[in-house]
Amino acid sequence: MYGNSASLAPVNIFTPSGLMNLGYDSLSPMHALWLLDPDTRTHSYRVAHIAEKMGTGLGLDGTTIDDLKKAGLLHDVGKIAVQSIVLKLGKLTVEEQDGIIWHPIYSGIILSKNPRFSTPPITRAAEEHHERNDGGGYPFGKRGDEISLGGKILSICDGFEAATSRIPMRNYNHLRSGDGHPLTVDDFRQVVMADNGKEYDPEIAGVFIERVLGDREFLRTLCLDV
Ligand SMILES: [Fe+2]
Ligand SMILES: [Fe+2]
Repeated sequence: MYGNSASLAPVNIFTPSGLMNLGYDSLSPMHALWLLDPDTRTHSYRVAHIAEKMGTGLGLDGTTIDDLKKAGLLHDVGKIAVQSIVLKLGKLTVEEQDGIIWHPIYSGIILSKNPRFSTPPITRAAEEHHERNDGGGYPFGKRGDEISLGGKILSICDGFEAATSRIPMRNYNHLRSGDGHPLTVDDFRQVVMADNGKEYDPEIAGVFIERVLGDREFLRTLCLDV
C-alpha cells in the first residue's frame, strides 16, 4: 500500500519522517543500496539538495521542484543491480566498466514500479543523469533536447557533487583532478565555463553558475570551502 492521495502532497524529504511519508519505506532497493553503500546515500542527498536549488533558480513550479528532489534522491538506485561492481575495491575491468553504465536504466525500471515515482519527469531524469549535451553520454547517447529538463538538471548537479565531494565516486575520475582529488568550487566553475555545450546544456549551465556556484551561503550548507 502506498497511502492515499492526500499523502502525495509535497513534504520535506530531507527528514526521516518525510522519507517515510513519501513511502520510501517501500523502496527496498534504495534502502538496500544505501545500507551497502553509504557513500551513495550521502551523494544522493546532496544531489537532491542541489537539484532543489536549481529548480528554484530556474523559477520552476513546486511540483516540478518536488519531482527534481525525488529524482535527485533516487537517481542512482539502479546501482543495486550492479552492486558487485559498485562495491568492488580496486580497479574495474573493462567488462565491469561497461556494466556500470546500465545503472541509470535500472534506476528508471525500479522507479517505474512505484506509483509515487513512476511519472516521466522522475523516471526520465534518473535514466538521463549521465547523458551529455553533445550525445557522448550514456546509456542512450541522447543529445540536446532529446534529454528532458530533469535529465539536464540532474546531470550538472550530479557532476558537481561527484567532482567536489570529498568522497570519490566510481566513474567520475574524469571530473576530478589528475590525482583524483576533489575540485574546488572555482575549479568546477572554470570547467563549466569552458564546456561550451559539450557536457552540459548551455542554458542550464549558465543558471548553475549564477544561482548555485554564485550562492556562497548555499555552498556552505554543502560543507564546501568558499
Ligand atoms: Fe549515476
Ligand atoms: Fe549520481
